[in-house]
Amino acid sequence: MTGPSGGAQTQGVHTLVTGATRGIGRAIVEALIQAGQPVVGVARRPQPSFPAPLVCVDLADPAATREALTEAAERWPIGRLVNNAGYNQMQPLGGISGEAFDQIFGLNCRAAIECSQALLPGIRAARDARGRAAGRIVNISSRSLLGRLDGSVYSAAKAALVGFTRSWALELASQGVTVNCVAPGPVATEMFDHNNPPGSPRRQQMLGAVPMQRLGAPAEIAAAVMYFLSDGAGFTTGQTLFVCGGASVSQIHL
Ligand SMILES: NC(=O)c1ccc[n+]([C@@H]2O[C@H](COP(=O)([O-])OP(=O)(O)OC[C@H]3O[C@@H](n4cnc5c(N)ncnc54)[C@H](OP(=O)(O)O)[C@@H]3O)[C@@H](O)[C@H]2O)c1
Repeated sequence: MTGPSGGAQTQGVHTLVTGATRGIGRAIVEALIQAGQPVVGVARRPQPSFPAPLVCVDLADPAATREALTEAAERWPIGRLVNNAGYNQMQPLGGISGEAFDQIFGLNCRAAIECSQALLPGIRAARDARGRAAGRIVNISSRSLLGRLDGSVYSAAKAALVGFTRSWALELASQGVTVNCVAPGPVATEMFDHNNPPGSPRRQQMLGAVPMQRLGAPAEIAAAVMYFLSDGAGFTTGQTLFVCGGASVSQIHL
């Protein structure tokens, strides 16, 4: 099997993808399946058409998450994790509520810790066909980590994921486990449409701030994730890759 890096791909090691049934998560699942890689999804609700085993749990509930992910680790040899599930609620500084703060940090950050902890033994133990360490964690952040008008809590939570990425990369490097981060710009998903309805001034403003003047496709984010998951990326760790149509280098702010 040849992966996106052109190198041989580890077989048998499962990748668990959170937020797997729609949008970016679903695109990652499809890319893994296309590459012949076994995958396990996580979402709150069952989806009969989902093309792989699906663990149904609300990742906003830490105890339920620990239980479900520990069970999953007993059932499948999960050595790779994509912390993709996220949540955003736009609130300007004057209107930030404690409830929204907890929800945003809960799903974007705390769930990433819970999932990583539950799967860590399997991630550390993962080996490729030649017996080399092959564990991977990929965190899905956002271009918003650079700043988001009226979205400071989401921006801060996504920036925290970069801190997790860099620190976990240091902690796990000696065991051969890589930890990297993908920071997408605006991507055409249900979450994006919900927060930026078609025709809304906010959506037009965001598109105007993307140098490529279009939304990204979920598959374009999945391609970056597939690189970090690949065996060929075994010497790449602690990195954040912006996949954002140039928005992270533009002087016009989203
Ligand atoms: N779309 C963008 O423009 C964009 C840009 C930058 C970064 N991102 C980030 O990319 C990631 C994916 O975003 P997306 O736009 O693809 O999202 P999405 O289209 O809204 O997909 C959400 C997925 O997450 C699951 N999910 C939601 N809440 C959950 C919970 N509490 N527990 C378990 N599963 C849950 C959903 O299934 P259920 O509803 O069944 O639970 C679904 O599978 C997020 O971290 C987001 O912050 C997105």
